[in-house]
Amino acid sequence: MSSRTGFIALEEDLSSIMSEARFLHSKATAESSLSLVCQFKEQLDPELCYKTALLHDIAREWSDFELQAYAEKFSLLLEEEEREDPVLLHAPVGAHLLGEKGYESSLCLAVRYHTLGSIAMGRLGLVLFIADYIEERRTHLNETTRKDLRSLPSLEMVCLEILGMQELHLHKKGKLPARCSVELKHFLLADGRL
Ligand SMILES: [Fe+2]
Ligand SMILES: [Fe+2]
Repeated sequence: MSSRTGFIALEEDLSSIMSEARFLHSKATAESSLSLVCQFKEQLDPELCYKTALLHDIAREWSDFELQAYAEKFSLLLEEEEREDPVLLHAPVGAHLLGEKGYESSLCLAVRYHTLGSIAMGRLGLVLFIADYIEERRTHLNETTRKDLRSLPSLEMVCLEILGMQELHLHKKGKLPARCSVELKHFLLADGRL
């Protein structure tokens, strides 16, 4: 069985609860995860990578109100930036929701930190964080930048580069990166491996 064929039912479920654009992004992120695992010869279960990416934005289309109400109901531990910008809550809310449904803890941790990045996100989270950023449908990257990112020698270096790009983007909006993103950056700069 290929990494994709076991997820037809899950894909049908997801396509019925999210917009077509969000579903296509989730599929493209899943394909991108598989291709990263293959390119960097990662010892990760490709099916788990594919499933994690398919599910990562499960709460992305909830309203701010729904996200905030869920986070409050379950007393989720949040980053300051997630309190200030409710759309970011789709990561902790999605992770909690998936945990309640019985998904693996490594999958939930990866989803938890897919927006901000964290040293707690694990190797699965590292693949998701990168795949989510570089998937083919994203318009914030041109082909050259996407290619340049993928030509770096390790996933850690790709992640570091993405964190730098995100920091620049935030800086233009007068914002600072989240504490967990800065911690991840320093960890990677010190040759840390997730
Ligand atoms: Fe997301
Ligand atoms: Fe995403």
